[in-house]
Amino acid sequence: MALRRRGRRRPDAGVAVDLSTTVGSVALKAPVMTASGTAGHGDELAAYVDLSTIGAVVVKSLGSGPWPGNPAPRVHPTPSGMINSVGLQGPGVTAWRERELPAVLATGATVVASIWGRHVDDFASAAEQLAGVDERVVALEVNLSCPNLDGGAHLFAHDPDATAAVLRAAAAAGLPMWAKLSANTDRVVDVAAAAHEAGAEAVTLANTLMGMVIDVDTRRPVLGAGGGGVSGPAIHPVAVRTVYDVRAALPEVPIVGVGGVVDGRTAVELLLAGASAVQVGTASFADPRSVGAVLEGVETWCSRAGVTRVRDLIGGAHG
Ligand code: FUM
Repeated sequence: MALRRRGRRRPDAGVAVDLSTTVGSVALKAPVMTASGTAGHGDELAAYVDLSTIGAVVVKSLGSGPWPGNPAPRVHPTPSGMINSVGLQGPGVTAWRERELPAVLATGATVVASIWGRHVDDFASAAEQLAGVDERVVALEVNLSCPNLDGGAHLFAHDPDATAAVLRAAAAAGLPMWAKLSANTDRVVDVAAAAHEAGAEAVTLANTLMGMVIDVDTRRPVLGAGGGGVSGPAIHPVAVRTVYDVRAALPEVPIVGVGGVVDGRTAVELLLAGASAVQVGTASFADPRSVGAVLEGVETWCSRAGVTRVRDLIGGAHG
């Protein structure tokens, strides 16, 4: 989807909008990115969106080696969203660098890598494989919050000390780190503080919420792994609250907001709650053009509201 150039006056005579933002030390040309796990590992969305116009492509989390993921079925629709238990299928960091990264870089995209692990050493290994990566990989999102590994047995983001240990290991990548956290815990503020203290420049709030769907005819869970992670518009208010609370408690910690972003208004809501940028995930499963449409929606909303710089919205809901 072609987007208007930044700063161009819109045909509806609204004001021109500067869409640029920053997440910690990372400058982004636009405040809308793909969410990890919803745009593949490479240029999968390039046929639908000009990836050079969005803030960044955040790739699906990569392990220290190839991993087949969880048994099918892996995704299922839910009211106002979906549930997944993909289980972090992927080629591993080194194979990704060789086989997938060149294609996404060729689109002109800014890239954010993402890693996962079962143990601290797994994160260290994955991070070491990223050292010296192309400079267009501008950050590393550290996935501490996947609910689908071994039934949720590796939710580092539920514990400040475990989160800090992972981030210290992930620093081996030499990239600005964003810690992807969980709203399944009432300790999210403590965990975010520990992540920042341990070296994360920002936190991504938040991953899917743990859930389950049971087929009443078979009397069994519909997903092959049993439980999964719920995403989409159903969890948007949870994401807004999580971003708001962390911003209120830790105003010095930059936030990337994610959860149920489907259009300009839902993206702006997360910016007002305190996010410096947002990610679009589940909406891309329904329409792969969504991330471009959300960015255009943000620009249109700002233009009509007389907002000339999108970054002026950040945290605007806090009195
Ligand atoms: O199962 C999955 O691949 C999902 C990962 C996540 O939510 O972090």
